Amino acid sequence: MGVSSTAPLLLRAARGEQVDRPPVWMMRQAGRYMKAYRDLREKYPSFRDRSEIPEVAIEVSLQPWKAFQPDGVILFSDIVTPLPGLGIDMDIAEGKGPIIHSPIRSQQQVDQLHPLDPEASLPFIKTVLQSLRQEVGNQSTVLGFVGAPWTLAAYAVEGKGSKTYSIIKNMAFSDPTILHQLLTKFADSIATYVRYQIDCGAQVVQMFDSWAGQLSPQDYDTFALPYQKMVFEKVKQTHPDTPLILLVTGSAGLLERMATSGADILTIDWSVDMADARARLGKHVKVQGNLDPGVLFGSKQFIRDRILDTVRKAGNWGHILNLGHGVLPETPEENVAFFFETAKQLNALV
Ligand code: CP3
Repeated sequence: MGVSSTAPLLLRAARGEQVDRPPVWMMRQAGRYMKAYRDLREKYPSFRDRSEIPEVAIEVSLQPWKAFQPDGVILFSDIVTPLPGLGIDMDIAEGKGPIIHSPIRSQQQVDQLHPLDPEASLPFIKTVLQSLRQEVGNQSTVLGFVGAPWTLAAYAVEGKGSKTYSIIKNMAFSDPTILHQLLTKFADSIATYVRYQIDCGAQVVQMFDSWAGQLSPQDYDTFALPYQKMVFEKVKQTHPDTPLILLVTGSAGLLERMATSGADILTIDWSVDMADARARLGKHVKVQGNLDPGVLFGSKQFIRDRILDTVRKAGNWGHILNLGHGVLPETPEENVAFFFETAKQLNALV
């Protein structure tokens, strides 16, 4: 296929083509561990400005590209970015994460939500994704991302990040009708948003269900998995060729269930040995991951050993090399550079 021969490495691997080495990128590769990001943050102290003023979001997205040439360049944004477009006002507080000013707790609030119209409420996404594609050409793959219904509902209902998820679990386990309506509305709008990101240039899209690992497996089956499926099914109806990645944090007890979500690729976190993940999922499920982000605090020799170990365990098909979750803010940039250099020499090393 002519298209495939010029397609960038990550996209080819994500489609299941045989490649010479696993493509590599890092979750949260743009952000606080980079001096260039911290400097820009002084000029634009508001996260919403950094992620919604197109020139700034483009610059931030490209900072890791310019520094390390990863095989994937991810849109700089946040999972809560589309919420104002549904009628949920939000802010992102320094050091705290998303804040929802009027948390969703009632039927009336759910009824008042409107379906997302990305052209109207997220026009900057188009500018950013188009520019990223233009900038990286066929040298790298542009990734979009969204939050999954359960994780977005956790923010919308709790009003902020939570350690216990008491409010949303109270809702889920006492009177789940309102919550299911909210999750259905989110699934619908998130599917619209994924389609929009693809139409604007995203070549692979990752869905973060970061807090679905807080659910027991039976509750995951009720409150997370069906809504992940809804999003993936809707997107596949119109965009069957765009690879979709699923991430759940703390997913060791959920891997087999995640494999039924309709995602093309599963992110594996470091609580599971990559060899075990492969054995449990079978050889047809593509995987991403899975180094402990803390490995990047280790020596160069240690970082290299862990990369080699992961890549050998993952085998030579259907693997995107990544951390098991986002890079930590205190990580030395030098070690991030070493991680990418080592990963990109892999066909010579393995
Ligand atoms: O360039 C990229 O790699 C994109 C980075 C990215 C951000 N948010 C930027 C950001 C991604 C992939 C997200 C998604 C996101 N946002 C998730 C899913 C990923 C995951 O970690 O599971 C979640 C749960 C959120 C919600 C959120 N937003 C949190 C928990 C925080 C961090 C709070 C903190 O300060 O520790 C945010 C804020 C945020 N989003 C930051 C960044 C770089 C940090 C704030 C800043 O840099 O000023």
